[in-house]
Amino acid sequence: MPIIAPSFLASNFLKLADEVNMVNTSEAEWLHLDVMDGRFVPNISFGLPVIAAIRKATKKICDVHLMIEEPGKYAEAFKNAGADNLCVHIEACPHLHRNIQQIKSLGMKAGVAVNPHTPISLLSDIIHEVDLVNLMSVNPGFGGQKFITYTYEKIRQLRKLINERKPGILIEIDGGVTLDNVAEIVAAGTDVLVAGSTVFEAKDPVAVIKQLKEA
Ligand code: DX5
Ligand code: ZN
Repeated sequence: MPIIAPSFLASNFLKLADEVNMVNTSEAEWLHLDVMDGRFVPNISFGLPVIAAIRKATKKICDVHLMIEEPGKYAEAFKNAGADNLCVHIEACPHLHRNIQQIKSLGMKAGVAVNPHTPISLLSDIIHEVDLVNLMSVNPGFGGQKFITYTYEKIRQLRKLINERKPGILIEIDGGVTLDNVAEIVAAGTDVLVAGSTVFEAKDPVAVIKQLKEA
């Protein structure tokens, strides 16, 4: 069964403690935390102090997705804020190998995120160094967007690359995951499902998390 990672971008920030407690009581294993800088993506979300507060309220894995330029400048600060996984964008990292080594040397799991237009083949010389690939199934920057269906093909390509090079690396799908497309996303070879609006806009988020997991 896939790991479920509710994305707090879609949560109610006025009730953050309740939202974290909801995830704590659910079958979700990870909390997905989207950091945006208004430069790499055309939006600004939340950052270090918010993640540090969430960290104190949960024992689950904090999966931090950095949609920022120069992520290397902030890796240690995110470690100190409580990140377990730190994911940087390949498009933002001219020295990606160095970024990955830095994240691992700080004791975090290292993730690389790829935009919808970025070919899977660009991962071929770095894949064996990472713990996790975040395959964006929408253009990063906003929640509530429509799943880009070409992602199915990219999941299959990435699964093949991982099987050939280093089985065990996790494939995470981020954006537009719904109860309607989840079964096909998992069947294509996904390990981790990020879901923002599908979870936090639901009447019964705990039940939806269970449905996503069992789809
Ligand atoms: C988008 C973020 C996603 C977002 C997903 O840039 O990386 O994690 O929160 O939101 P939904 O699930 O609503 O598409
Ligand atoms: Zn994300």
